[in-house]
Amino acid sequence: HAQKPFVNEPFTDFSQEENKRAQAAALEQVKNELGRSYPLIIGGQEVKGENTFTSVNPGQPDQIIGTFVSATREQTNEAIQAAAKAFETWKRVPAKERAGYLFAAAKLVRQRRFQLNAWMIYEVGKSWVEADVELAEAIDFLEFYAREALRLAEEQPITRIPEEDNELVYIPLGVAAVIPPWNFPCAIMAGMTSAAFVTGNTVVLKPASTAPAIAYQFIQILKEVGVPAGVVNFLTGSGSMIGDTLVDSSDVRFISFTGSREVGLRIYERAAKVQAGQRWLKRSILEMGGKDAVVVDETADLEDAATNIVSSAFGFQGQKCSAGSRAIIVEAVYDEVLQKVVEKAKKLSFGDVTRPETYMGAVVDANAKKKILEYIEIGKGEGKLLLGGGEQGPGYFIEPTIFAEVDPHARIAQEEIFGPVLTVIKAKDFENALDIANDTEYGLTGSLYSKSAEHIARAREEYHVGNLYFNRKSTGALVGVHPFGGFNMSGTDSKAGGRDYLLLFTQAKAISVKK
Ligand code: SER
Repeated sequence: HAQKPFVNEPFTDFSQEENKRAQAAALEQVKNELGRSYPLIIGGQEVKGENTFTSVNPGQPDQIIGTFVSATREQTNEAIQAAAKAFETWKRVPAKERAGYLFAAAKLVRQRRFQLNAWMIYEVGKSWVEADVELAEAIDFLEFYAREALRLAEEQPITRIPEEDNELVYIPLGVAAVIPPWNFPCAIMAGMTSAAFVTGNTVVLKPASTAPAIAYQFIQILKEVGVPAGVVNFLTGSGSMIGDTLVDSSDVRFISFTGSREVGLRIYERAAKVQAGQRWLKRSILEMGGKDAVVVDETADLEDAATNIVSSAFGFQGQKCSAGSRAIIVEAVYDEVLQKVVEKAKKLSFGDVTRPETYMGAVVDANAKKKILEYIEIGKGEGKLLLGGGEQGPGYFIEPTIFAEVDPHARIAQEEIFGPVLTVIKAKDFENALDIANDTEYGLTGSLYSKSAEHIARAREEYHVGNLYFNRKSTGALVGVHPFGGFNMSGTDSKAGGRDYLLLFTQAKAISVKK
């Protein structure tokens, strides 16, 4: 193709004054845009609604980011019908043209980088760096899936026989319900949406209710680059009101979801039921939680291990399915590593994320805060509280919190907390540490800090996670480099940012012509 090979988008260096100024200016500019009202977008039309909800700044909940329509079930069905209608033409649009929209969108996202970062900083409490890294990932997904769609449209390798001409083509599925999470409200939202429509499907996008504004910015970009009406419909509202309607519809062909285990399992079960008039078996692409571990053995670089235990646990307030929420440390170095971890976590800057130096902001909303505080209470009965545990208001702030001496079967060692709470577990030796790491119903990411070739070889075989990292933090998978997705209750191991991903959005048709 004419395109250059895929490379990851670089991150912004905020130590450069020029970049710092640009981000600060974008924060000022976007501040003036906060508080507007937004419609649904169904078949290219802006649709209003009687009931609305607001998206707020989690660090300052009286600051309204935007007011959004709570879609009704009727509007949900209208969005599905608009997508079904658009599918009839969109499915015939050549891959080259579909990919072209992604390349064009990537360009606009790149141009608006600091503004889009600002929306994330205000809407979900990302630090500058977390927002910017996510923005780069959004660009990566667009660039990567565009190229992947072109690759899938090429002649596919099959065995030749003399008496027939044979080929295999990948065709789209139909209408997608795309339900992304709030924790990567730009990258994962844009990745899931673009993967679905670049392969010829049409989309009803239901953004997370805590992060609809950033999704709306993306929808506007798709409109600007000319994605036809009805190809991506924008449907806001609470999951409990309209989620089932979307998932149950006999006109929806597949569901692409990233979020909690609880909601993922509900979707999996409901999508399996064949509804009246439904002509297919719905597909579910599900990315759920994690209870990921960072294991440290006696051969590790302890300083490096401690630094990355802290960043794996507390980056974006621990609100990542990839977060290293368990540190499993062998006895021989336990005290030393733990001391370093606590020292480093104490130094994390905490508070207002519009300031460039802040590392940790508020958790996403009041419910999250309540749930995390409940886990902290549980933790007080299960381990030794070494740091944090407190909260601050009126924003949804929770201090970086560390529990040590925790039994591997304790609730805070088994259940996903999705907040800034690190559970530290002591292991007898490396074997025991690996057993503890695997003793979870999840299997998303896992890290091992070690210099032992033997331990590394063993972990390579036995550490049962979709993304295994040696001497590296458990978060921050790069598109194309670390195809991302996990085992067991972490989901369907649909590797986002990998070469298998777009196949999930297509079905293969084998065509045979007798000579
Ligand atoms: N892909 C993100 C990470 O690796 C999580 O969704 O941290």
